Amino acid sequence: MQPDDELCLCFHVSWRKVINYVRVEKVTRPSQVSQCFGAGTGCGWCRPFLNRLVQQVGEDPPSPNEIQAWLESRSPRKDRYQSGRESHKNNTKSGANSDENPPKPDSPP
Ligand code: FES
Repeated sequence: MQPDDELCLCFHVSWRKVINYVRVEKVTRPSQVSQCFGAGTGCGWCRPFLNRLVQQVGEDPPSPNEIQAWLESRSPRKDRYQSGRESHKNNTKSGANSDENPPKPDSPP
């Protein structure tokens, strides 16, 4: 995943925007990230990743010029992330329990 790839696909909020928002605003609760361009307030797919990101930035905040390297070891592969979100949306539309295939923020890239 690259810093300018979208973390919240519903609201087109990049990983970089969220990381900087969490870092600068000293976010401690994941729900606060919704103030960053509405991240996490759509389909819900990205919320587990937002939760994990808030924790990780709190523990080991990257400087602005370290974000790419910092993100490489902490984010999912872009193709898996996007396809997982499509499955999530399809399950939600069909009424299937979206908890059957929850996103795994700790999956290896
Ligand atoms: S991907 Fe963030 S709310 Fe849908």
